[in-house]
Amino acid sequence: MRLRDCHNFHDFRRLALRRLPRPIFDYIDGAADDEATHRRNTASFERCDLVPNVLRGVEAVDVSVTVMGQKLAVPFYCSPTALQRLFHYRGEHAVAAAAAKYGTMFGVSSLGTVSLEDLRKAHDTPQVYQFYYHKDRGLNRAMMQRAKDAGVEIMMLTVDSITGGNRERDLRTGFSIPFKLTPGAMFQFAIKPTWGIDYVTHERFKLPQLDKHLDMGGGPMSISRYFTEMLDPSMTWDDVAEMVQQWNGQFCLKGIMSVADAKHAAQIGCTGIVLSNHGGRQLDGSRAPFDQLAEIVDFVGDRIDVMMDGGIQRGTHVLKALSLGAKAVGVGRLYLYPLAAAGQAGVERALGLLRTEIERAMKLMGCTAIAQLSRDNLRFR
Ligand code: LAC
Repeated sequence: MRLRDCHNFHDFRRLALRRLPRPIFDYIDGAADDEATHRRNTASFERCDLVPNVLRGVEAVDVSVTVMGQKLAVPFYCSPTALQRLFHYRGEHAVAAAAAKYGTMFGVSSLGTVSLEDLRKAHDTPQVYQFYYHKDRGLNRAMMQRAKDAGVEIMMLTVDSITGGNRERDLRTGFSIPFKLTPGAMFQFAIKPTWGIDYVTHERFKLPQLDKHLDMGGGPMSISRYFTEMLDPSMTWDDVAEMVQQWNGQFCLKGIMSVADAKHAAQIGCTGIVLSNHGGRQLDGSRAPFDQLAEIVDFVGDRIDVMMDGGIQRGTHVLKALSLGAKAVGVGRLYLYPLAAAGQAGVERALGLLRTEIERAMKLMGCTAIAQLSRDNLRFR
């Protein structure tokens, strides 16, 4: 199987499975507890159907949107995800370059493996900085200042990760940084030598957003341990209000699901929210963002930009979310499997396919601009 044989999400996922050592694949692929929320994120789009209009003259379709003060050529963006250089040696650089090619923004994680400054210099497209709120307040202030100095356009504070989700696949494989090389894991790495050669022959793995502050002395750091030990569970709305003031620019909260929280975000001056359950990786049994979207848009959609992520695999999923009132949608695994499968070329192919699917679906719906999508286009079963 080659990159040119990949025509959808599932093809890229299969190719990633072939290339990556199993513990790394499972880190991307896995979610919390029984992974029920993860599955429902995609299934939620099947709850409703698109109702097309025809004969409307659709030769030219414009799929651009404006969100968080940015004009994007496509209505989707690359959500921030952690540890990208573990998946492909070019990591965040590959994703940022592909995002720039398609005229969209990309997220850089606090747990990113390329520095936000290097990315800002190398890629001319809006950058979102994903922020985790640490117990160390000095670290929080320093991270905000760094992002400001680098010219990051959008601050995105993740609010659903105040403790680690129960990711049982990671517990079984011993996924951590650095790896806990159990005999089982050693075998999984040994049977993927190409990944291993790439990993050791390229720049050393690091976490440049955090490395001055991260204490690896306590042994391997699992993602769950990072969340639980380093992030501040005492964080409240007052802390966020202070951050919003300090940032004084585009600021959104990622991981909002309730109407009450959406209203709160608008009150304290956030310019956007992302409905998200972290790809099902945190609270299993929580609601799918698409299921919650209409309610949230009805309450705050006229005051702040409402975005969502979770489960998007198809252009029609994007159309459904936009029809309910999302301003743009984020994708994560949708570009991570392609990154693992083929680096920048993989991500470009995945984003290109998604754009083509959106343009095709727009034509078949009888729409020439995103603003023409509305709830009239949808019927729930
Ligand atoms: C995860 C974090 C790091 O879901 O975003 O693994």
